Amino acid sequence: IVFFLQQQIEVPQPPHEFKDRLTKTGHRSLSCSLSRSSTDNLSSGTKPHTDEEISPQNKEQKNSKGSNDFCIRSIRQAAFGRREIEMAEQEMPALMMLRKATQGEKPLAGAKIVGCTHITAHTAVLIETLSLLGAQCRWTACNIYSIQNEVAAALAEGGVPVFAWKGESEEDYFWCIDKCVNAEGWEPNLILDDGGDLTHWIYRKYPQLFENIKGIVEESVSGVHRLYQLYKAGKLCSPAINVNESVIKQKFDNFYCCKESVLDGLKRTTDVTLSGKQVVVCGYGEVGKGCCAALKGLGAIVYVTEIDPICALQACMEGLQLARLNDVIKMVDIVITCTGNKNVVTRELLESMKSGCIVCNMGHSNTEIDVASLLTPDLTWRRIRKHVDHIVWPDGKQIVLLAKGRLLNLSCSTVPVYVLCITATTQALALIELFNAPEGRYKQDIYMFPKKLDEYVAVLHLQSYDAHLTELTDEQAKYMGVNKSGPFKPSYYR
Ligand SMILES: NC(=O)c1ccc[n+]([C@@H]2O[C@H](COP(=O)([O-])OP(=O)(O)OC[C@H]3O[C@@H](n4cnc5c(N)ncnc54)[C@H](O)[C@@H]3O)[C@@H](O)[C@H]2O)c1
Repeated sequence: IVFFLQQQIEVPQPPHEFKDRLTKTGHRSLSCSLSRSSTDNLSSGTKPHTDEEISPQNKEQKNSKGSNDFCIRSIRQAAFGRREIEMAEQEMPALMMLRKATQGEKPLAGAKIVGCTHITAHTAVLIETLSLLGAQCRWTACNIYSIQNEVAAALAEGGVPVFAWKGESEEDYFWCIDKCVNAEGWEPNLILDDGGDLTHWIYRKYPQLFENIKGIVEESVSGVHRLYQLYKAGKLCSPAINVNESVIKQKFDNFYCCKESVLDGLKRTTDVTLSGKQVVVCGYGEVGKGCCAALKGLGAIVYVTEIDPICALQACMEGLQLARLNDVIKMVDIVITCTGNKNVVTRELLESMKSGCIVCNMGHSNTEIDVASLLTPDLTWRRIRKHVDHIVWPDGKQIVLLAKGRLLNLSCSTVPVYVLCITATTQALALIELFNAPEGRYKQDIYMFPKKLDEYVAVLHLQSYDAHLTELTDEQAKYMGVNKSGPFKPSYYR
């Protein structure tokens, strides 16, 4: 890998304009079901009630090596968390391969990474990979709901200073970020952020740290957006890599994550049978394509709405029925929004739905369905299950609203770990790249993930299949005008 990194990497120019694609993958609650099962297990007797009541800030805890440089719910959960991490490792072959690929070399030796991500079993695999590659890591959570306490305990037991516990308050959240950054005798030289809170905290409270920071890796749209705001204000103090828009993430995360999870979300909440059901999917981008593929696989009759003629044509050529929402709304059984847009499903459309229609969102945040328009005195809301509300009209008609219009899969289902591994590997390689890049390769700007590394993430994942990649001959490489070892596509390829 060191050889690989020593090769000159073509550095793509930062895009002129930030394209707010309205993706918000960085803030998803990735550990829904994993942490739910963990919590169930723990709450069934192994954890004394008082443990939950005492704030971790007021507890004196040490790991087995005597370190108290962490703040988590309970170090006693470490063994249980270790099993969760070992299970995630099975589904994260590329990170495990990255550990082996270094063959004793430590591409992150000397790196001091401060991280703010979800604290879940699969991010633990990333954090421990970074540590094995030579980095010293300090970690905190970007999302107070997704934290797996037992995983935080396993990390702390393994020697990673981690500051996070499930359900921490907003005040605790920033306290944890501060504890992570403001450590005696330790200064970070790399930032791994998901959402931008950590970067902004350092920027506001400890700007002098940027003198040593070699770079920021940011995963989420909102975090990248905040980086661009800093950049435009002339305040970005170090290079940053936007992994959100890497080809590998866009092609795999959005499509496969949704393909693998939409049915799970529908079934866990409603126990619905999809076979023969009429479903309308709004938007046929990567997320819509993933949803349609899964729904078709179960024999649903799928309609698609689109505004873009190219995506619309793709839908038609996949044998899907392109329609306007107005025209099909009365007959469909399920409505799924995936547009990244707002008010795609309005009160007027909700009025037209047949009784029992299931309405949910796989797209941006909670803007796609006009849920606020349902908060009128004529309608009754009935909580049926967690994440399931019946909205009842005076005449008895009811619609089934899932997750109050928030992202269905992220609220109600598991998220496929193998797909998350692709993003985690991208983050690891971006950190290695920033740390090892020769002076001057990156300036105080925002860069796309280098194409060569994008392809390398795929190479690492290919090794988990019995897959055999074809090699270009010299003649073919010359004919195509590419290097035999890649990159195989231009940096603008999407
Ligand atoms: N649930 C998840 O796990 C997950 C994962 C990744 C992204 N997302 C979110 O899903 C949304 C879509 O992501 P994507 O990668 O598919 O984006 P995309 O841009 O590829 O696709 C969105 C599609 O919706 C179409 N569209 C826009 N407005 C429309 C309207 N009013 N009616 C019909 N079609 C319309 C666009 O033409 C586009 O083709 C984003 O908000 C993103 O944040 C969710």
